[in-house]
Amino acid sequence: MNIDSIRSVAVLGLGTMGHGIAQTFALAGYQVQGYDEHPAARANLHERIRKNLDAFVASGLLPSSAVEPALQRIKACDTEQAAVNGVQFVTEAVAEDLNVKQALFARLEPLVGDDTILASNSSSFPISQSGVNLKWPERAVVTHWFNPPHLVPLVEVVPGPQTAEGTTLATMALMQHIGKHPLRLRKELPGFLVNRIQVAIMREVWDLLEQGVASADEIDAALRTSVGFRLAAVGPLEVHDFGGLDIQTTVFRNLAPEIRSNVEVPKLVADLVAQGHLGAKTGRGFQEYPPAKIAERQQRRDRLFLALIKLLYADSIKGDVG
Ligand SMILES: NC(=O)c1ccc[n+]([C@@H]2O[C@H](COP(=O)([O-])OP(=O)(O)OC[C@H]3O[C@@H](n4cnc5c(N)ncnc54)[C@H](O)[C@@H]3O)[C@@H](O)[C@H]2O)c1
Repeated sequence: MNIDSIRSVAVLGLGTMGHGIAQTFALAGYQVQGYDEHPAARANLHERIRKNLDAFVASGLLPSSAVEPALQRIKACDTEQAAVNGVQFVTEAVAEDLNVKQALFARLEPLVGDDTILASNSSSFPISQSGVNLKWPERAVVTHWFNPPHLVPLVEVVPGPQTAEGTTLATMALMQHIGKHPLRLRKELPGFLVNRIQVAIMREVWDLLEQGVASADEIDAALRTSVGFRLAAVGPLEVHDFGGLDIQTTVFRNLAPEIRSNVEVPKLVADLVAQGHLGAKTGRGFQEYPPAKIAERQQRRDRLFLALIKLLYADSIKGDVG
């Protein structure tokens, strides 16, 4: 598959990730056919994307003339079959359930052309697992986007042992063409690269909270104003190089035995989940979330992400007005 022959894409699952993925392809000029098993997700797809695009325009990253053409390139289809009909690239962003993804790929294969690439946006399942039922696993690959997908530049591209080189190369080229900063992993492994690191941070952050070392607010502020501030500009290995590997290895030896290595979810977090406190969506997680606070935090988050994009990755927002 050559990138020039990719003109239309299908996005299956139009939730948190799928709608932003659809938006990104459409902004770059691709025809997008979307499907979600929940009618509401299909019905409000354009409204959600319009809101995102309006924020792009308000931040000066996109000309207002690019909004309507992008929206017109997106079609919400009534069936899975209609969504994948005639497309050259499919990405699934359905629930993170291995059985659901395996069944979906098995259903899709007879519905698409021989050359159509099938991509999975799984957060953890390698394509050799989710695509296990495929007759032609050569055509399948993981493209792991980050939330919000229309804002975060990285997409991890993770071929499995049976993925054809042509599939990986075309997928990398496609991701670059739509403005993403794709990283091809050299080895297939669960959680890929970034989520493994994020889980390592999660484990320690939860442990420090459980130990009462600082409040949730304080931990968030500490990370934002130190590691987060630094990582936006300089990668961790470069930080180590400039810190000096003699010092860094001493720090590692001193602290590695001290930090949490337990694989159980800490009791503090397990209890919150058992009580139904799942975060913003239930009004309480580590903090309380009255509805006004949710809207305010999300708007603040997107405003800051857009400012960061403007500063560091302005080239990642495409705006095909054709
Ligand atoms: N949310 C994140 O931060 C994030 C980041 C990277 C990757 N992912 C991965 O992306 C995928 C989607 O996650 P999300 O956060 O968008 O979830 P979500 O729950 O917001 O959206 C999933 C959507 O898929 C639909 N759906 C479920 N099964 C379907 C099916 N068989 N056919 C069609 N539609 C179906 C649901 O109705 C829902 O609208 C998951 O694999 C997840 O692990 C999520």
